[in-house]
Order: sequence, then structure tokens, then C-alpha cells
Amino acid sequence: MRVLVTPDHRTLSEEAAELIARSIRIRPGLALGLPTGNTPLGMYQELVKKHRNEGLDFSAVRTFNLDEYLGLARTRPQSYHSYMQTRFFDHINIRRENTDIPDGSPGIDVKAECDRYENAIRDAGGIDLLIVGIGTNGHIAFNEPGSSFESRTRVVSLAPGTIASARKYFASEAEVPQSAITIGIRTILEARRILLLASGQTKAKAVERALRDPVSESLPASALQLHSDVIAILDEAARG
Ligand code: PGA
Repeated sequence: MRVLVTPDHRTLSEEAAELIARSIRIRPGLALGLPTGNTPLGMYQELVKKHRNEGLDFSAVRTFNLDEYLGLARTRPQSYHSYMQTRFFDHINIRRENTDIPDGSPGIDVKAECDRYENAIRDAGGIDLLIVGIGTNGHIAFNEPGSSFESRTRVVSLAPGTIASARKYFASEAEVPQSAITIGIRTILEARRILLLASGQTKAKAVERALRDPVSESLPASALQLHSDVIAILDEAARG
């Protein structure tokens, strides 16, 4: 694993965007695995700037998001569909049909949706570059501690700490979905290259454990030690 430490979140965002932009220039039809949350917001802003100012071309890029809440309409502002649309897709020249996000809408046939998603990734030839954050409990995507390293796209229950962290985006804790659809650890490890992003002091402990502790299913992010091409971009605070 290569580790790059940046002074702050802004530099982390610039470095991440530059790495992605370089990959797109080399391979215009790149398949990206994309995260949501606070950490990648600056990275998306930087990519939008590169599209506007440098003509970074997303017209052949394919994207697969890592996860989505279950039981939340796609149109709700807290959904990851809304996040991706408003924070990123609306501002670049990506084709909507080249973007995919698990569908966690109420009433969906979840088993069929999880199978569809794994197949869509496979049919696209796999994910070339997957960007992922880390939870304070060491989760990656919504693979909470205890997730099998053989796991694929499936429904998961969110850990109490994950629900508490999401609380700020909802009117009340009762509104926070209790479950989600997430790609699995195996799905993540099959990506050709992985970019791990971590920002802020609250992530320092999880980052240190993920990089140095023995690999264990009790710490999902430690699975990244099993992959031969991982780049971690951390800001000073997250390095601890
Ligand atoms: P965050 O979430 O970027 O909002 O901190 C990261 C995660 O929980 O994976």
C-alpha cells in the first residue's frame, strides 16, 4: 500500500482528483467505483473544476456507486442517488446510462437488485479504480465489522455508530434507514486499483488499525492489505 499524507482536506481532495483525472486521460472509458459522504465532497468539486477548466472528459466514463440506503426513495435529498446527482453528475458531461447506483427504493426486489448490480459490474469488465472512505469503526462502503471478505453486493444492517453518524442528515434518528445495499468486500478487492481517502482526527484510529493491525473480518478496512494496488491519501489529522 502506498500512503500519501497531505496537510489538509483540501490538498487531499486535489490529490485524489488529480489521480482520477490522470487515470481518465489514460483510459477514457475508465470504470470508477464511487463513494459518498463528507470525505469525497472536495474531490468531486475538484473534478468538476477539471471538467470546466481543463476539459476533463467524462463522456465515456462508467461509474458504480458503492452503496445506497435501503427503503429511502431515490428522490429524497439524503439518498446517495440525490447526492451523486447534485454534487457531481449534474456538473460534468457523464452519460446517465453510464452511471449506476444500487436501487434501495421502497418495495424493490432487493435480491434481484443485488444480483443485477454484481452482474452490471462484471459486464462492464470490472471496476478499474475504486475510491472508498473509512468509517470510524473501520467499515468500507457499508461493510460493517464482521462482514465476510467473500461478500458481494447484498443487504446489510447498519451499525449503531453508522446510524448515529448519519443522524445529522435526517430530521430525526428514527428517520435514518437501518439498512442499506452495499457492494461486498470481495467486490471491492476485485477492483484493479483502490484509492482510500481518510480525513480528520476521528478517522485516525481506524486508519492506523486498517493499515497496521492483522487482517481480520472484525476490521473490514484491513482487507485492503490483501490488495496489491492500494493508494491511501490521508490528511495529517487522519494519520494521527
Ligand atoms: P464520511 O464517511 O466520508 O462521511 O466520513 C466515510 C464512511 O463512513 O465510509
